[in-house]
Amino acid sequence: MTTSQNRLALFPLSAQINANRLSIAGLDVQTLAKEYGTPLYLYDLAQLEDTAGQYQTTLRQTWQANWSITYAGKAFLTPAIARWAKAHNFVVDCTGAGEMGVAAHAGLGKENILAHGVNKSEEDLQAAIRYAGIIVADNLSELRRLARLRTPGETLPQIWLRLQPGMAVETHSYTQTGHEGSKFGMSEAQIMEAAQFCRQHDLPLTGIHFHQGSQFRDPSPLQPAIEKALDLAQELNLGADWHFSPGGGWGVAYHEEELPHPSVPEYLRFVTSLTQSGCRARNLPLPHLHLEPGRSLVARAGVAVYQVGTVKQAGTHTWLLVDGGMADNPRKALYGAKYSCLAVTQAAEEPQQTVSVAGPYCESGDVLIDEITLPPLQEGEYIAIPVSGAYHLSMASNYNGARRPAALLLEAGKAPQVIQNRETVADLLRGDTVP
Ligand SMILES: Cc1ncc(COP(=O)(O)O)c(C=O)c1O
Repeated sequence: MTTSQNRLALFPLSAQINANRLSIAGLDVQTLAKEYGTPLYLYDLAQLEDTAGQYQTTLRQTWQANWSITYAGKAFLTPAIARWAKAHNFVVDCTGAGEMGVAAHAGLGKENILAHGVNKSEEDLQAAIRYAGIIVADNLSELRRLARLRTPGETLPQIWLRLQPGMAVETHSYTQTGHEGSKFGMSEAQIMEAAQFCRQHDLPLTGIHFHQGSQFRDPSPLQPAIEKALDLAQELNLGADWHFSPGGGWGVAYHEEELPHPSVPEYLRFVTSLTQSGCRARNLPLPHLHLEPGRSLVARAGVAVYQVGTVKQAGTHTWLLVDGGMADNPRKALYGAKYSCLAVTQAAEEPQQTVSVAGPYCESGDVLIDEITLPPLQEGEYIAIPVSGAYHLSMASNYNGARRPAALLLEAGKAPQVIQNRETVADLLRGDTVP
């Protein structure tokens, strides 16, 4: 297999190389870059649909009771993505009042909104009461706030309690969430206390949730966490109609060395068979099972396109300086994430030159790729970085006055749909108080 074919496998399903040019959903990437400007984020609808279908089909085949998929909006949320989630009957996990506002604006009702977050403020809880069907309580302080905010006779969203399982999945320490001492969730003793509080204050406790981390590909650490959660469920006696969410976090391949992409059906079969046998062993009724994927649903669907502005020699080092970087993709600066890329109009060319790809921002850490071999690129050409759909735009900033990029949803045979407008200088001036 050639290097470019290997790299193409990281791209969305509809990506192709024809006559050396990269296309997605039948649309030429360079033409899109010229028309919409760069940095530009492209989302392939076919890839979104395929991964969503893998989640739905596998759950239909392997889970004998009710289930639902909760898309973790923190990975990437715009009104269009929220509407896409709703069209699949997915619930959207919203962290805080801001994400709930986006989901509600997109027309999602309570049945499609779940309120997450550690340290939910009064504003977050008020938004949750107004917009959400489920609140995942991270701690007792939130429950106390919720009980205070409740108006007499008001029906509250269902409450699930977030367990800190005390063990994490294997991933970067910054994306581990379930380990002992983590800021997320409650110990078993704290869960028991929170459950007692719910009962004393008539808060509708119906479920248990945990999340161990993000970007893992070995599901085995889920086993002890699921066992612990089922033990708790038994102790809490949540009734026949109880809910269980073992979170999300399933990983994707970001670089050709990490291929093949981790299998969604394999992950789900692991979760469903363990939960099923665990319930049987404890005489527990099968819960309504919720999976909470973010990255594995949207990461591979997204591609970031940049234009090369400067090719700079620095000693023995060749820098490709492009027009985006840590302001639209902070993952390399945050976690040392390793990316790959293709040259958009030399996509089938065998790479010959080792270069580093960096952005225009005033930080030496503003690097997108440390070292990669590429065909020789001229200033003005474009590169495309695959697996850019999750935790890029949702973590983007205005550092150095960067304006957040545009994002397009691509569907074969249709005109691209702008799902996020490129910001302008006017957006940077929104906060100005002087007329
Ligand atoms: C509570 C919770 N649920 C779901 C997710 C989604 O994880 P991922 O995008 O890795 O699937 C996260 C991410 O950190 C999370 O904290």
